[in-house]
Amino acid sequence: MKRNLFILFFTCAVSFAFFQCGQDTSKPAVNADSTQTAARYGGYESQAKWGEHLVSYSGCTDCHTPKKMTDHGPVDDSSMFLAGHPAKMPLPDVDRKEIEKKGLGVTRGLTEWIGPWGVSFAANLTPDSTGIGRWTEDQFLFAIKNGKYKGLPDSRPLLPPMPWQGIKQMTDEELKAVFAYLKTVRPVNNVVPAAMPPLSAPPGR
Ligand code: HEC
Repeated sequence: MKRNLFILFFTCAVSFAFFQCGQDTSKPAVNADSTQTAARYGGYESQAKWGEHLVSYSGCTDCHTPKKMTDHGPVDDSSMFLAGHPAKMPLPDVDRKEIEKKGLGVTRGLTEWIGPWGVSFAANLTPDSTGIGRWTEDQFLFAIKNGKYKGLPDSRPLLPPMPWQGIKQMTDEELKAVFAYLKTVRPVNNVVPAAMPPLSAPPGR
């Protein structure tokens, strides 16, 4: 029995040394060498760099960064990087009732979205107080995982086309890296307009 216990202890000690079994991944990589840090942050040198990579390939900027029109089509307006729908930009002049009736989703600049759900505006994801500056990491994870506005349990569901159902497939560690990166981008003061309900009440309302 004693011998078995010793073998068990020895095996665990060896695996701990080689594979870091039992490592608490929620703690920052204090004193870890750069290889360990990179291994924990998806191969990147820091949590924010990993987040930058995740944000760039999952296309958050498509909707959350306003566009400038060029001869070659729309390009990101870098002065408004991830700042959401510009506060004063008017809605395109379209027949909202017709759009709702036909079940269309219409956008001009990819930051405003008109459809049967009403009108939604891509949020300001910069660390300004008008963006996610006062959000906690928990709030951010809650918003994405539960599709809740502002990441608060009692708030309304997030509207289309925010693809939270797909984004929530990221692991907690990945979402935390995304949040860490968002906290490092240039804060932009931009109060995104409030979402609007549909003009035509859906059947049964
Ligand atoms: C297809 C467009 C689109 C893409 C791509 C997209 N979003 Fe969004 N997002 C929106 C819209 C529109 C809203 C506003 C929804 C609402 O008001 O209910 C939103 C809202 C949010 C919110 C909630 C903000 C708040 O104030 O409650 C967060 C957080 C968010 N997006 C993060 C992200 C992240 C991170 C990514 C990339 C991984 C991303 N979004 C990609 C369109 C998009």
